[in-house]
Amino acid sequence: MKKIAVLTSGGDSPGMNAAIRAVVRKANFHGVEVMGIFQGYEGFIAGNMEKLDLGSVGGIIQRGGTKLFSARCPKFKEAQYQLQGIENMREAGVGGLVVIGGDGSYRGAMELTERGFPCVGIPATIDNDVPGTEYTIGFDTALNTVIESIDKIRDTATSHENTFIVEVMGRDAGDIALWAGLAAGAESILIPEEEYNIDEIISRIERGVARGKRHSIIIVAEGVMPGSDLAKIIKEKTGIETRVSVLGHIQRGGSPTARDRVLAGLFGAKAVEVLLEGRGGRAVGIKNHEVIDYDLKEAYENNHKADLSLYTLSKELSI
Ligand code: ADP
Ligand code: F6P
Repeated sequence: MKKIAVLTSGGDSPGMNAAIRAVVRKANFHGVEVMGIFQGYEGFIAGNMEKLDLGSVGGIIQRGGTKLFSARCPKFKEAQYQLQGIENMREAGVGGLVVIGGDGSYRGAMELTERGFPCVGIPATIDNDVPGTEYTIGFDTALNTVIESIDKIRDTATSHENTFIVEVMGRDAGDIALWAGLAAGAESILIPEEEYNIDEIISRIERGVARGKRHSIIIVAEGVMPGSDLAKIIKEKTGIETRVSVLGHIQRGGSPTARDRVLAGLFGAKAVEVLLEGRGGRAVGIKNHEVIDYDLKEAYENNHKADLSLYTLSKELSI
């Protein structure tokens, strides 16, 4: 394989740029040329790409977002578009692809591999919800953004004796809510993986008030319910003024943390090694501090499991 391509797909995450850089530098180290495909599978179908040389990935390791742009491309599920893209790649002499994205993007990568065009996946999503790897690129940065915001909210919540609901991202996965809630000392955390008990949440608030606490911070993952709905329930049941902050897309931006940059370097290098060994249909990941590769299908045929021991711990630490 003398030429490979790289694309970023699905929701962007901080550290995608660092991963692109690692792929380009590692491939060049082995004498392999890299094409950067723009806008995920949209660009793959259209053959919209340009050569990424060593200099073209300079100065991006610290940047959030993705230099290659990202897209959700529903039509890529159809065979005709996959085949069209493969034809474009073959015409350009591209022999394999590194897909940086989440489990949805992995499905596309597997279909391409099954059609004879080898792909390797790098997990990049703030949700940390790719089965088979303990961490995904962008999760750590998003967490740090969230806890910085919660710390600020806590300042004003304390001054005004407010209860604050902070709604964070995570439609199906509670990792952001869970880790950020633990790191910021939230009173209650609501995640999609666990049933919540409104009476328990309220009694935590009331216990806090009784022992002189001047604020309560409750983290709710967007997949559970909108923060505004939860605030309404609490206000109705307790009469306590309850404010809401929806952090939204600020969680997806910003300069990647050291941890995400290092992860991007490790994953980018491993993905190139695997692809150059001619092993398509693989995903890279990290488990017990070891960088691994595994069957792409494992990543989307299994369900992601949040570490629920953290959920139990958060309840113990916020009594
Ligand atoms: P993520 O990769 O972050 O999980 P999505 O689930 O939105 O994001 O998937 C990103 C893109 O991957 C989709 O827009 C589509 O182009 C492609 N994709 C998702 N599912 C499939 C599938 N079953 N077959 C082919 N391509 C898919
Ligand atoms: O998958 C990343 C993510 O940020 C989720 O946490 C969130 O639910 C979703 O993407 C939001 O997607 P969009 O920006 O398309 O609304």
